[in-house]
Amino acid sequence: MKLVNGYDLMKFAKKYGYVLPAFNTTNLEMTYAIANGLMEANLPGYIQISSNNLRLSNPEVIAGIARDAVKKSETPIGLHLDHGRSFADVKACVDAGFTSIMIDMSHLPFEENVRESKRAAEYCHFYGIPVEVELGALRGKEEDIVDESGCKTDPDMVESYVEGTGCDVLAVSVGNVHGLCLNPEIDIPLLSRIHEVSKVPLVLHGGSGIPKEVIWEAKKHGLIKINYGSDLRREYIRTFGEAYEANHNEHDVIHLSIDAVKNVADRVKELVMMINEH
Ligand code: G3H
Ligand code: ZN
Repeated sequence: MKLVNGYDLMKFAKKYGYVLPAFNTTNLEMTYAIANGLMEANLPGYIQISSNNLRLSNPEVIAGIARDAVKKSETPIGLHLDHGRSFADVKACVDAGFTSIMIDMSHLPFEENVRESKRAAEYCHFYGIPVEVELGALRGKEEDIVDESGCKTDPDMVESYVEGTGCDVLAVSVGNVHGLCLNPEIDIPLLSRIHEVSKVPLVLHGGSGIPKEVIWEAKKHGLIKINYGSDLRREYIRTFGEAYEANHNEHDVIHLSIDAVKNVADRVKELVMMINEH
């Protein structure tokens, strides 16, 4: 199968009642692992990469690997830019063949956030690609970016934000935290209020550590996509770390890389099945 357009992927999810997981990649191994995990579960989702990670693997490289990784897939898989931090990154990813885009201007004051997000949305829409935007900021750590300025999404701003940006999906801050935070306090009543006023479906970032029951509940309040990053990265690093702990002279990169792909794929499979159990 080809990488699937983001609109088609969301249509598919809505039709069959799925929540779409979006798994963060950094490199070749993580990308194959994510595709393998989704294919083994035979459930839809996204491979996604953040602007931050594009410092290592540029959009063309990741798009090439992702296309290869999904070619035997019988379940729809999209390629998404996560936390797009500039118009240049958005453009480079669209041009490289990404099928879904996030522009994250949540650190900016409201008017600027709207203006910059809208600019990206117009570019993506010209190419038939949906756009995720973010209102409210998340606490926690996204790799080397630490943000302690968490402020929850204000439901009173949602309608004009969605309208003003022309977005297709909205990432919200409702107590979700980036990083390996166990059991974050997700404010379901707030999510529900946002859902009531939002014309577009909602996204939860910071999926690692959110209990499954909370995700199933969030599903009833407009959740269509949930992001997982740290959980998979820990699995990847654990594979190499344990081998090194056992033998400081370990130097078998190929076997360890194959093991890492398997371990990350197993975790992907577990997570996508878990969120769609109900
Ligand atoms: O955008 C990426 C995610 O929000 C990842 O969050 O590392 O807490 O799973 P996480
Ligand atoms: Zn995120």
